[in-house]
Amino acid sequence: MTKQFHDVVLSDEALAQLFNEARSYNGWLDRPISDQQLEAIWDLAKMAPTSANMQPVRIVWVKSPERKEKLAECVMEGNKAKVLAAPVTAVIGYDIDFHEELPWLFPHTDAKSWFEGDEVGRQEGAFRNSTLQGAYLMLAARALGLDCGPMSGFDPDAVTAAFLADEPRHRVNFICSIGYGDPDSVFERSPRPDFDRFNRIV
Ligand SMILES: Cc1cc2nc3c(=O)[nH]c(=O)nc-3n(C[C@H](O)[C@H](O)[C@H](O)COP(=O)(O)O)c2cc1C
Repeated sequence: MTKQFHDVVLSDEALAQLFNEARSYNGWLDRPISDQQLEAIWDLAKMAPTSANMQPVRIVWVKSPERKEKLAECVMEGNKAKVLAAPVTAVIGYDIDFHEELPWLFPHTDAKSWFEGDEVGRQEGAFRNSTLQGAYLMLAARALGLDCGPMSGFDPDAVTAAFLADEPRHRVNFICSIGYGDPDSVFERSPRPDFDRFNRIV
C-alpha cells in the first residue's frame, strides 16, 4: 500500500528549516560532521526522483585536511577559505555512463538500451538529473539540521583531474560545503521574485 500524504502540510517550523529561514553559508562553525551524517544525507536524497531512476550523481566527500587543501587549489579565490573551513565539501559529479547501472536501478524494462550509442543524450540526462540530486542533497542536509554552501566558482578541469581522475566517465557538476553554518557569514538576503514575476498559468 502506497503511503500518501494528501493534505498534510509540513509545520511552519519545518518549512523555515528547509526553505524560508535556510541560508547559503560562507563560513562554518568548528564542529565536525560524522561519516554517519553523510550517509544519512545520502539515504534521504537517493529517494527523490530522477528520470528512469537513473541516479547519475557520483559524490566525492572531501573531508581530510590534505584533500581540502587540494580542493581549495581548484576553486576561485573567494571560495578558498570557505572550502578550507568547511568540515566537508561534496564534489557533486555525474557518470556519463550511468546507463550501465539501469538493469538493476530500473529493472522493469530495458532502459539501458535507450541510452546506448547516444552520448549527447546521456550527457543531457546525467547533467539534468545530477543537478536535481544536488538540490535534493541540500534539502536532505537541511532536513537533518545541517547547513549548505553551494559553489560553482571552481576550475572544472582541475577538480576533475584532482578528484575524478580514476573514473574517466565522471564529470563535475558543482561543489557544496556542508556543516554547521556560522550565522555571521551569511550575506543580506537577496530579493526573491513574487509569483507573477516569473510564472504564467496558461
Ligand atoms: C549552483 C550554485 C553555485 C553557487 N556558486 C557560488 C560560489 O561559487 N561562491 C559563492 O560564494 N556562492 C555561490 N553560490 C551561493 C549563492 O549565491 C546563494 O545560494 C544565493 O545567493 C542564495 O543565498 P541564500 O540561500 O542565502 O538566500 C552558489 C549557489 C548555487 C546554488
